[in-house]
Amino acid sequence: MPGIKGFISLEGIEGSGKSTQVKLLAGHLRAKGHNAIETVEPGGTNIGLKIRALLLDPRNHMDPLTELLLYYASRAQHVREVIYPAILKKTIVITDRFTDSTVAYQGYARGVDLSLIRALDEIVVPDMKPSLTFLLDLDAEEGLRRNRQARKEDRFELEALEFHKRVRTGFLQIAKEEPERVRVVDASRSAEEVSAEIIKIVEEVWH
Ligand code: TMP
Repeated sequence: MPGIKGFISLEGIEGSGKSTQVKLLAGHLRAKGHNAIETVEPGGTNIGLKIRALLLDPRNHMDPLTELLLYYASRAQHVREVIYPAILKKTIVITDRFTDSTVAYQGYARGVDLSLIRALDEIVVPDMKPSLTFLLDLDAEEGLRRNRQARKEDRFELEALEFHKRVRTGFLQIAKEEPERVRVVDASRSAEEVSAEIIKIVEEVWH
């Protein structure tokens, strides 16, 4: 499936700089005269933000299945309330994380069966795939080091290094399986360099 034109996701481990890149790309596209919105998962809606708080609270000891279903609950609301209406209006949507994060975190890192994630995906977000995904690839130790500097400590940031290494492996595996959609960008460089590469790829793909 080729994915939805004008729907872009950015993915990567903690500390890979996705949020900065989402802002830079959206800012660039708007400066070029496009309508573009930035959004985030989990979150993106009022309900999503409440679910996000549940998911990230380090005091919650959460069952992996509860975790998976909460990500999809947030996504169901996000797609119907924000993403799909924007796409219908031909607005470009740039999201900080989408389904690939679930495959990498809940699937590869937590060990939830990938076929269960795929089945949920077909129910909750049928035919809602980005046409372009940037994987901001970074060494897990470097990502955690950056996060510690920023003093971030949510439920996932407190996971062991091994967990984050599995997340990275998961993302790289997705990129290997879908090289047309998922472009791997070296996120160890400066934000400006990473942004320039992302913009170049978007322009090449959409020329
Ligand atoms: P953020 O820190 O990039 O805003 O993302 C919040 C956390 O949620 C991050 O640790 C990754 C995690 N996450 C999942 O585990 N599964 C998902 O499907 C998504 C969207 C995020």
